[in-house]
Amino acid sequence: MSVRIESLTKTYGVQNAIDHISFSIGHGEVVGLLGPNGAGKSTTMKILTCFMPQSSGEAEVCNFNTRTSPLEVRRRVGYLPEHNPLYGDMYVKEYLLHVAGMYKLANPEARVKQMVELTGLGPEQHKRIEQLSKGYRQRVGLAQALVHDPEVLILDEPTSGLDPNQLVDIRNLIREIGQQKTVILSTHIMQEVEALCPRIIIINKGKIVADGSRESLQRGKKGQELVEVELDGAIDVALLRGLNGVLRVEVLSGNRYKVEAQAGNDLRKAIFDLAVKQNRAILSLNVQQSSLEDVFRQLTRS
Ligand SMILES: Nc1ncnc2c1ncn2[C@@H]1O[C@H](COP(=O)(O)OP(=O)(O)OP(=O)(O)O)[C@@H](O)[C@H]1O
Ligand SMILES: [Mg+2]
Repeated sequence: MSVRIESLTKTYGVQNAIDHISFSIGHGEVVGLLGPNGAGKSTTMKILTCFMPQSSGEAEVCNFNTRTSPLEVRRRVGYLPEHNPLYGDMYVKEYLLHVAGMYKLANPEARVKQMVELTGLGPEQHKRIEQLSKGYRQRVGLAQALVHDPEVLILDEPTSGLDPNQLVDIRNLIREIGQQKTVILSTHIMQEVEALCPRIIIINKGKIVADGSRESLQRGKKGQELVEVELDGAIDVALLRGLNGVLRVEVLSGNRYKVEAQAGNDLRKAIFDLAVKQNRAILSLNVQQSSLEDVFRQLTRS
């Protein structure tokens, strides 16, 4: 196993930031760690990368225990922290050489050059880190996480704050890296999960509420019917809620409504009849497959 955690718990005062969580990740897997703000994602990552000790339970990377063999773990892990702390007054190359030096790499110059190319830092490499835009700082963070060619990469919200072009570049880079390495990444962007993560672990309030393939999680909710309808004017939401089998109605902008019902209820005819009765025209009506966002919200709504 590349990563294994067993009953891992971190307590701050009276709060369990993570509460007896366990999972194993095999070599070469790319796993999305999802969860609402404050769920415990960064806490889990900090323990796995030896930045913080756990209160109880065990964490292992490449069969090395984070408590008893932290140096062995650090050698094998690349970590992009949430608040990517970089030395602002260092130059990009100087900083990366400094990190390469800490890992005592055989040929640091060549490796840094390679990382600069890989992360697209070429045009910015002669600037000081504090002069870089957020997206380029993020690239420096990725380059430092990769410089020692770690077996496991732990990326805490790697694409936060990137523009759409950089986002695609960095996602492509992560996908490429994920072909050879184990990657755990946290994100709030569901398209990113769709694009990168065949497996998903969802944490809510310090506990794991889902762990499985992306497909199986989406299929798991298929027992429900989801329809999005757009009308030519507003309608009383209570009327939609009152339709047979309806579990939830979400009001979207522009007289659009998302209606969720138990499987087996064909909402289309019921909504059509209701619209006619209410003198409303249906501008569009789509039966939707449950999205990852729906799965996430269903599992993490308090
Ligand atoms: N140093 C600390 N002292 C006290 N509580 C903390 C500390 N660090 C984290 N916490 C708490 O632990 C919980 C989990 O925090 P964590 O940063 O792991 O969440 P997260 O899932 O990464 O959230 P986000 O999506 O906002 O980044 C939160 O309730 C947070 O307030
Ligand atoms: Mg976090």
